[in-house]
Amino acid sequence: MWPFSRYHRSEIQQHYKPVVLVTGCSAGIGLALARLLHQHLEYRVVITAREKSLHILQKEFLEDDRFHIRSLDVTSEEERKRLINDISKTWGGVDILVNNAGISYRSVIEHMTAKDELLQMETNYLGPMGLIRRVLPYMRETGRGKIINVSSVAGMLAMPTMSSYSASKYALEGASESLWYEMRPFGVQISLVQPGFIHSNSFRNVYHTDLSDPSRNWSGPYADFYQNMTPFVERMMNLSLTTSEKLAKIILKTMKTENPPLWIPATLDAKMFYYIRRLLPRRVLLPFLYWCLPKARTWGKKYSHRRDK
Ligand SMILES: NC(=O)c1ccc[n+]([C@@H]2O[C@H](COP(=O)([O-])OP(=O)(O)OC[C@H]3O[C@@H](n4cnc5c(N)ncnc54)[C@H](OP(=O)(O)O)[C@@H]3O)[C@@H](O)[C@H]2O)c1
Repeated sequence: MWPFSRYHRSEIQQHYKPVVLVTGCSAGIGLALARLLHQHLEYRVVITAREKSLHILQKEFLEDDRFHIRSLDVTSEEERKRLINDISKTWGGVDILVNNAGISYRSVIEHMTAKDELLQMETNYLGPMGLIRRVLPYMRETGRGKIINVSSVAGMLAMPTMSSYSASKYALEGASESLWYEMRPFGVQISLVQPGFIHSNSFRNVYHTDLSDPSRNWSGPYADFYQNMTPFVERMMNLSLTTSEKLAKIILKTMKTENPPLWIPATLDAKMFYYIRRLLPRRVLLPFLYWCLPKARTWGKKYSHRRDK
């Protein structure tokens, strides 16, 4: 099946190269996707990074008339507006938006501040929504387009110390589901690529709050949570067979598929959790997952005043 087959109907359209915009390309999945798209001459591509990381892309890629490097902090309304206006002037608009940029806080809810919550939501949810709002008019008018939001297993299931990250991905999932209906009449397709654990160093980029920072030598009621969850997540990522490069290929395949599904569980554990969540009765689901966490039954025990009766 030809990708974007409607582009192949006439002589002129045969040469149409969809315009792809990817956020957060300085590392991980975004960088792997940038490398892949650099070789795919059938697309016009805008890869982006925050100003502070732009040098990484400028060092690795040479810009030409179909491959552009631009600065974008997804949390800045001003930068989103400027970038989409620039792309519209140069190439008409964006045909495929990949909302990949993301951050992840590691903190229990009690240790989060309103400012931390906002940064998490601005990066993983409000920023992507802002970009979507800016690209939709062009997609609707041309009757084609794809929005690929990189979500997570954390958007299907929440884990302790990751509440804010999960909330941001649940929000992204909910809005994408709604958008799927809203865009159906207009030919714009929405997909959520849902990775689980990825074999990468991105756990090193985890954000901490003042109170969850490891340099505080965790003590108190939540120490066990941090002491167990942090190595657990790192272990799972190291054990994962899926790399950022594999994820980039899945995103590229989604771009090329004519009618991609809304939900695309993208790693083995993501597929497993996708079914576990659907098949296990709710009263069993949480105790089962709790039981899977390392030594969870002992966490916080020393500080607990729990009354069972
Ligand atoms: N790795 C995993 O195991 C995993 C699992 C599930 C889902 N995901 C999702 O996959 C996506 C990519 O994650 P990754 O693993 O590739 O993480 P990563 O290696 O930490 O890369 C994240 C990218 O996002 C960028 N970014 C952060 N804040 C930004 C902002 N305000 N504006 C623009 N760019 C920003 C970072 O750029 P800077 O250089 O500017 O910081 C970086 O390029 C995220 O949405 C993440 O939630 C990852």
